[in-house]
Amino acid sequence: MPMRIWRPQDLDQSIEIFQRAVHEIAVRDYSLEELRAWAPEPPDVAAWSRLMEDLKAWTCEIRGRIAGFIASDRPGHIQLLYVHPDFQRMGVATALLDTVIADAGLHGVHELSTKSSRTGRRFFEQAGFSVQREEQASRNGVSLQRYVMTRPLA
Ligand SMILES: CC(C)(COP(=O)(O)OP(=O)(O)OC[C@H]1O[C@@H](n2cnc3c(N)ncnc32)[C@H](O)[C@@H]1OP(=O)(O)O)[C@@H](O)C(=O)NCCC(=O)NCCS
Repeated sequence: MPMRIWRPQDLDQSIEIFQRAVHEIAVRDYSLEELRAWAPEPPDVAAWSRLMEDLKAWTCEIRGRIAGFIASDRPGHIQLLYVHPDFQRMGVATALLDTVIADAGLHGVHELSTKSSRTGRRFFEQAGFSVQREEQASRNGVSLQRYVMTRPLA
């Protein structure tokens, strides 16, 4: 999978991936009200721009299109992981996770962690993560169930 560091020029495509992944993939696991709170339409592009400035992120680019992206706020902690609906179940998230594992290794971090959606939980479990606890995240006044998950690194 062709991986590279995320660039500010990737912002529009990344936001589109986020919107579509939430509304077309996570739709299996959350109500319409929850999806609208998680990924409101239209998206707040300025807020996204500020968020991405504070994160270290990587993308997977296939035939000139961004297939997905992953972002960390600190080594080993996955803050965002979204794959375009056209590129699901092709190993994109697995390859993106490998970039975070490599980065964690460079920084001497011994544990991966994330706060996963119900949708992401199945991916993270098969990648060796286990649920530490369940919690509610508040998004635009709506409560969304998510899972605190970790995986030890050798
Ligand atoms: C979760 C997500 C990132 C996975 O991306 P992906 O590129 O399709 O994942 P991969 O192809 O690397 O999947 C690897 C394995 O994880 C498991 N897996 C992935 N998605 C799964 C699903 N929806 N249901 C069950 N298992 C799943 C499978 O074991 C899969 O292997 P297989 O396809 O050979 O069966 C993607 O579905 C997504 O963007 N979801 C919506 C947004 C979201 O909730 N993101 C997580 C935010 S915390």
